[in-house]
Amino acid sequence: MEKMLLNNVDKPNSEKISTYISGGGYKSLEAALKKEPEKLIETVKASGLRGRGGAGFPTGLKWSFIPKDPTLAKYLVCNADEGEPGTFKDRVIIEKDPHLLIEGMIISSYAIGGATSYIYIRGEFVQGTKILEEAIKEAYEKGYLGKNILGSKFSHDMHVHRGFGAYICGEETALLESLEGLRGQPRKKPPFPALAGLYAKPTVINNVETLSCIPAIVSKGADWFKGIGPEKSPGTKLFCVSGHVEKPGTVELPMGTPLREIIYDHCGGIKGGKKIKAIVPGGVSAPILMPSYLDIAMDFDTLAAKKTMLGSGAIVVMDETTCMVKVAYIVNRFFSHESCGKCTPCREGTAWLTQVLKRIEYGKGKKSDIKLLDEVCDNIFGNTFCPLGDGAVMALRGFLHNFRDEFEYHIERKECMV
Ligand SMILES: Cc1cc2nc3c(=O)[nH]c(=O)nc-3n(C[C@H](O)[C@H](O)[C@H](O)COP(=O)(O)O)c2cc1C
Repeated sequence: MEKMLLNNVDKPNSEKISTYISGGGYKSLEAALKKEPEKLIETVKASGLRGRGGAGFPTGLKWSFIPKDPTLAKYLVCNADEGEPGTFKDRVIIEKDPHLLIEGMIISSYAIGGATSYIYIRGEFVQGTKILEEAIKEAYEKGYLGKNILGSKFSHDMHVHRGFGAYICGEETALLESLEGLRGQPRKKPPFPALAGLYAKPTVINNVETLSCIPAIVSKGADWFKGIGPEKSPGTKLFCVSGHVEKPGTVELPMGTPLREIIYDHCGGIKGGKKIKAIVPGGVSAPILMPSYLDIAMDFDTLAAKKTMLGSGAIVVMDETTCMVKVAYIVNRFFSHESCGKCTPCREGTAWLTQVLKRIEYGKGKKSDIKLLDEVCDNIFGNTFCPLGDGAVMALRGFLHNFRDEFEYHIERKECMV
């Protein structure tokens, strides 16, 4: 399969602009600047590209919401927060092929008429921040950033902004608050960022992987992109696979690749030849899948139809030795710790869930605890300010639905079933 995102990553000095240019880099920008911005938006719409940050929203459609008024400042913000547990795909692009992202961002900014863009990067990505800053400097020196890019009328500045390790700052409106120097908590929507985003100006927020698809869509065309994978979830996808597999890592495959193929053909199968027990298909907010779903096509719609989600494409594989009560406890503890505290159902609810799960895990569970977990979940779901609380509930309901017997066993026998 022809790769689009991981073409350069194995080359020596892959992060350097010279390596990127010698592989044909920045040619898409040259081509894009000769087109009308509106045409680019149409191309991205026609490609069917959907956001790779988690929700799968159509990218071209999002761009088309930006007002056309030339007197209004507009911003592009790249979401490089990569906080969903199990997710490490954006990091590969940031560290190994930063110019792919930068080129994608310049083209996207040109399409929406944005003079300034920001990369909001996860605070822990110290190395990635340095690499991006150096890459942006190189792009300025070569005239791909700054005034009158490649002799055109388009001028653009790009900045890197480090977050401070808060999961909630990956949520787009909390990210904008944090970027403005405020406490990272979600905003009320509407207004949506396309109308009132950064500094209350029209803003597009896209994930690193989403923006990195843009150069190939411009150079190879919308039809080429649409021809890869399922019609409604086209393109390639970065799957980051971790847990009990022989060869964990990031692989680029067509959307819709069966889960079995990803785990067994590309990641070497289950470690030590053990039996597979459960799979997180798209970051820990995504309800787990049982091994009976190994032949499922990994794309947005197929997973949604099975009441889980592709999310960030983070696959966590668990073998037969895994205690699901412990996993549920650890996952929930994460959500509780990362709840920003703005709304009561999420702040209090995730803390309650963690407390109950902890006592079950440590052999102090009560018979009524499973019912209590169900009730607390019902009180959180759909009642929170942003999707963090819903994510916590969806994950826990997945564990309770598929492994209720393990929870009961833990409560009765005060030990793991495995
Ligand atoms: C709690 C929470 C955390 C999120 N974290 C990230 C993240 O780390 N990276 C990301 O790209 N999107 C994240 N998102 C999704 C963003 O809000 C937003 O949908 C995404 O950046 C849009 O880009 P896309 O359309 O290219 O996917 C998160 C959402 C929620 C609710």
